[in-house]
Amino acid sequence: MSLGAYKLLALGLALFPAIISSSPIIPHYFRAIDVSRAITSKQVESDLGTALSQGTLIFGPSNRAFANATERWNTRSMPADIQVVIEVAQESDVAKVVKYCYQNSIDFLAYARGHGSTNTISKFRGIEINLSKLTEITIQHDNKSALLQGGVYADLVIKKTWDHGYIVPTGSNGCVGFFGPALGGGLGRYQGQYGLISDNFVSLNVVLANGTAITVNATSNSDLFWAMKGAGHNFGIVTSGYIKIYPKKPNTWHYHNYVWSQDKLETVFVALNKFQGTGQIPTLMGVNFGQFSIEPQISKTEAVIIWSFAYDGPAADAEELLAPFNAIPAISSTKGDVSYSELLVVQQTDINSASCSSQPYVGSNTWLQTYNITSQREIYNLFNQQIAQNPGLAPGARVFFEGYSSKTTQLIDHSSSSYPHRDEYLLVFFAVATPPDLETFSRSWADKTLAIWRAGQPGRRPATYVNYAVGSEPLESIYGYDGQLPRLRALKSNVHEAPLYT
Ligand SMILES: *[C@@H]1O[C@H](CO)[C@@H](O)[C@H](O)[C@H]1NC(C)=O
Ligand SMILES: *[C@@H]1O[C@H](CO)[C@@H](O)[C@H](O)[C@H]1NC(C)=O
Ligand SMILES: *[C@@H]1O[C@H](CO)[C@@H](O)[C@H](O)[C@H]1NC(C)=O
Ligand SMILES: *[C@@H]1O[C@H](CO)[C@@H](O)[C@H](O)[C@H]1NC(C)=O
Ligand SMILES: *[C@@H]1O[C@H](CO)[C@@H](O)[C@H](O)[C@H]1NC(C)=O
Ligand SMILES: *[C@@H]1O[C@H](CO)[C@@H](O)[C@H](O)[C@H]1NC(C)=O
Repeated sequence: MSLGAYKLLALGLALFPAIISSSPIIPHYFRAIDVSRAITSKQVESDLGTALSQGTLIFGPSNRAFANATERWNTRSMPADIQVVIEVAQESDVAKVVKYCYQNSIDFLAYARGHGSTNTISKFRGIEINLSKLTEITIQHDNKSALLQGGVYADLVIKKTWDHGYIVPTGSNGCVGFFGPALGGGLGRYQGQYGLISDNFVSLNVVLANGTAITVNATSNSDLFWAMKGAGHNFGIVTSGYIKIYPKKPNTWHYHNYVWSQDKLETVFVALNKFQGTGQIPTLMGVNFGQFSIEPQISKTEAVIIWSFAYDGPAADAEELLAPFNAIPAISSTKGDVSYSELLVVQQTDINSASCSSQPYVGSNTWLQTYNITSQREIYNLFNQQIAQNPGLAPGARVFFEGYSSKTTQLIDHSSSSYPHRDEYLLVFFAVATPPDLETFSRSWADKTLAIWRAGQPGRRPATYVNYAVGSEPLESIYGYDGQLPRLRALKSNVHEAPLYT
């Protein structure tokens, strides 16, 4: 039984709803997006060509490679107008390109794997800086950290360090860039043990909006270090960074995937609430992913409930924790013990999984504390109703649930980073791949699903994981209600003469 396709998960290096955009005080240097100067690849070639290192590619829309080069994971957040693509061959090229853009009033968009999908990206016009060739991974001699270049993605990092006997906290999807999710906090299967990805930043090499390259760490630009651990997409391009690594402990993870029919919905969510309490997911149970989806071999009209648990340790220990789920009669149940990179395959988050293919997604998402059983039933019923109206949407429609263990993320000093959601525990989202004529239908479905989740937590303020932000959420829900925004805004106007992108 296939798990069904996880078609989302953490996002790539990209620019997010810029903090400055809703600031009541518009700084004098503020440039609107539409004044980004028009530029051609020929012009860039002649201005910069000799300054950039050998192997760097500069091309525009007339090049055969352009269509691929402007591809994104969510084809609904395509930049409006990429005029030139620059695939840099060396880290040092990034500062040169950014300085050139700064001096010539050209906006730029850093690209690693293209998963960022907020609607602010679709307004972009200017130069795309493709970091994908920057893929060096160098484990340091003391085996305490690795130097990762800005274009690496989870799959590369996981394979390289695992073979060396180590693990690095990464996002859970193999195809997604490393730094994109990390700069927004960085959730992942190891966070219960080692904290968020950004909690494991040792030192970052950053290019600021004016092309100046700086080091950002606890003692050098420490304010920026705080900011870049949670709101990092707003402050610069990370060309490389030292990240903590840990010796791998067990050689295998235990996984257990279940498929349940909808009559078990209440039983399943009661069991999940009991299992995970409020932020009490057992530390080694790195993640449990769930989804509602139509699996046509089971039913074309009634979504099933699919759940996948992953435990960093032996089967016997995991199965003891999973006893309540084993007691719920399932349509199918599969389990096994696999290496960490194989775990991505069995949880369908590996680089070849459907979750990595480009689709025109419409979606919504929020954080939850626990599952409100009534709301879950309402969302489930809505899902079947909407599919009945537009059966063609079934293959690309999902409600997703991500429950990461969070002991260490909770224990880490909240003031050590700008990441605002250490006390949020369940990341839930809806996504449906939608043709243009059904966009209004899908938008309304996404909004309704979100409204039900929100109504299910009376009295709680909206909370949004920046890496999943759609772009329409209040900035406080993304960056925090506890004074983070004023501090981020002040910092942004201090360290930048121009915003990167709004
Ligand atoms: C575009 O990408 C596809 C799929 O990876 C590849 O087969 C094709 O050769 C690429 N086209 C160009 C012009 O690079
Ligand atoms: C980025 O560069 C890589 C490496 O050259 C290339 O394979 C990829 O297609 C490019 N992607 C984009 C979106 O520019
Ligand atoms: C680092 O790890 C490698 C490979 O496991 C090992 O050969 C080397 O001795 C380790 N170095 C230190 C300082 O622990
Ligand atoms: C922080 O950056 C400074 C300046 O580059 C450097 O001297 C120092 O070693 C860095 N600290 C760490 C922990 O990497
Ligand atoms: C569950 O959601 C409903 C709204 O659908 C709300 O009235 C109820 O208070 C929620 N229950 C809890 C325990 O928050
Ligand atoms: C770039 O901006 C930084 C932060 O404001 C500043 O310290 C630096 O001097 C600027 N560099 C140039 C070349 O203007």
